[in-house]
Amino acid sequence: MEASVQQKAYLNTAGCGIISAASLQAGADIYNAFSVNSSTRSEIWRDKEDPLYRKTLSQFLEVEEDRLAFIPNFSYAMNIVVQSLKGDEQVLLYKYDYPSITAPFIQNGFNVHFLESEQGFALSLETIEQAFIANKIDIIAIGHVQWQSGFKIELGPLSALCKKYKVRVIVDATQSLGAIPIPMQQLGIDVVIASNYKWMNSGFGNGIIYFDPSFLADYPPVITGAASLDFAGTARSYEPGD
Ligand SMILES: Cc1ncc(COP(=O)(O)O)c(C=O)c1O
Repeated sequence: MEASVQQKAYLNTAGCGIISAASLQAGADIYNAFSVNSSTRSEIWRDKEDPLYRKTLSQFLEVEEDRLAFIPNFSYAMNIVVQSLKGDEQVLLYKYDYPSITAPFIQNGFNVHFLESEQGFALSLETIEQAFIANKIDIIAIGHVQWQSGFKIELGPLSALCKKYKVRVIVDATQSLGAIPIPMQQLGIDVVIASNYKWMNSGFGNGIIYFDPSFLADYPPVITGAASLDFAGTARSYEPGD
């Protein structure tokens, strides 16, 4: 840990996590090399480091590597997923969720239905189930841990409810990934997206997206590039380029 933060308790990881000295050094090393010998260094990145980081991350998150992709941030990934949808889905959102979850659906004219919290805090499965039935919901997009209240929705029961009603579930894990284990593959969650600058302590400009293969099969990417073609059928098809 940096000398300047030793003996201190840092309490604003929900705002932005503290990046470790080792990560800082690794980032500085690659960009220093990019300033003198970038093409060789970029090939080392592609051939050796990138595969290693993908493997390490998939082991840490306990998911198959094919189901994970790197993203620049949460809102970019949320938008590319929304662009891949058909457009006529009935979507359930939480009214006070982080705007980067709700705005892409609203902005793109989806049929949106809003959940209200109970006593300004909790979201019950009963309320969600009623909304599924009343509005014939196709997709729910929701924060795992709420950015304003800290309320944590239990993903196991939520995922089971979604399976029962054949509702696709997209989870924003920006306020939980790295702090709370998320057995996304085991629970059968369709999509998990997170920016990594909070509880993953990884700085700006990086995040992860997880896909269940059945979601990828139904919704292949529409924001594409050469890398999308090279990795068709896997989560990496959602990474158009470097
Ligand atoms: C719940 C939640 N999702 C996402 C984000 C960040 O999204 P982005 O990195 O796209 O700005 C935040 C940041 O405060 C957040 O609290």
